[in-house]
Amino acid sequence: MKIREVPFIAMGGVYEKDDVAAAIGVISAVAEQSGSFFPLPEETQFQDMLAEHEGARRAVAVNSCGTALDCCMMALGVKEGDEVITTPLTFVCTAGTAVARGAKVVFADIDPVTMNLDPAAVMEKITPRTKAVIPVHFTGLACDIDGFDRIAEKTGIPVIYDAAHAVGARYRGKPVGNRGKASCYSFQSNKNMTCLGEGGAITTDDEIFAEKVRQLKTFGYVYGTSLGVASIGFNYRMTKVQYAVGITQLSKIDRILKIRQERRQIDSHAAGQGTRRHFRRGWRPVLHTRRIYNHESFRHAYREYSCGKPSVSRGRRSVQEQAGRGHRLVFRLLRTENRLSGNLCQ
Ligand SMILES: Cc1ncc(COP(=O)(O)O)c(C=O)c1O
Repeated sequence: MKIREVPFIAMGGVYEKDDVAAAIGVISAVAEQSGSFFPLPEETQFQDMLAEHEGARRAVAVNSCGTALDCCMMALGVKEGDEVITTPLTFVCTAGTAVARGAKVVFADIDPVTMNLDPAAVMEKITPRTKAVIPVHFTGLACDIDGFDRIAEKTGIPVIYDAAHAVGARYRGKPVGNRGKASCYSFQSNKNMTCLGEGGAITTDDEIFAEKVRQLKTFGYVYGTSLGVASIGFNYRMTKVQYAVGITQLSKIDRILKIRQERRQIDSHAAGQGTRRHFRRGWRPVLHTRRIYNHESFRHAYREYSCGKPSVSRGRRSVQEQAGRGHRLVFRLLRTENRLSGNLCQ
């Protein structure tokens, strides 16, 4: 079976003059011996800004979403013999993070309309060994968070959201970063917001959990009047230059998301009109947002734009059914970044 029928479009972040100045500022200070690569104060500033933007009490920046998920698994004590439930429709690392701890990955089905993990399907897979659930806000569309809250309340099983695609997404009018036990973000270079190629973060309202993952990312160090090592940890930090650029990236993310939203509407309209400028023959955008989340309180971050190709062309329903079964589903990436970066430079 031929799986990929649309070209992969390499994307990169929207880098503007302020990002360039931020990066050069750090390097120049070191070159002129008026500064160093010690990450403060940029690290704290970036984390505080991110926490506020994503509606969470705390944000802990790390060097990727993969390490963010790893830290969460370690902080929850996921180990051999445990089960972790997640979606089959995601990037390999969502499931891999559980395998890395020795746990068994249990896949539950997706909702065929939103393509996000379905809480009802998760409920059916819960056993006494279930240690965590990892839903993904797939392509930047928030999943059924209220449904997962109900599972957590009923079973006590922590929910860790893979929010790699979802910086700036809104669920019922609110950011998603304080939901569940924690959310893990990616700032890798093809995401909507990037930190010079790599980056990630964990957001949470749980201060104790935040402190655990903070220690994991930085050799278990605790700072204060006396510096000490309180637990076993690793070095999962970003660099000072990345934090500096993360600050400028965050200050423009809402503008970028607005542009992506507008582009999505133009593309969907073109597809509806039969223009299909960007679509190969037979492919259609999956119009789930119109049916389910057709309300401005749900902001889709459009890190990707889902398309499906019905094998028998019977209109929209058929496309969604195909997508739900995972048949011949591909993702068309919104071509905003590189073209826009030229226009957006001040
Ligand atoms: C859903 C999902 N989770 C996790 C990741 C991993 O992100 P990172 O490259 O920052 O580790 C990705 C990367 O594309 C992703 O798409």
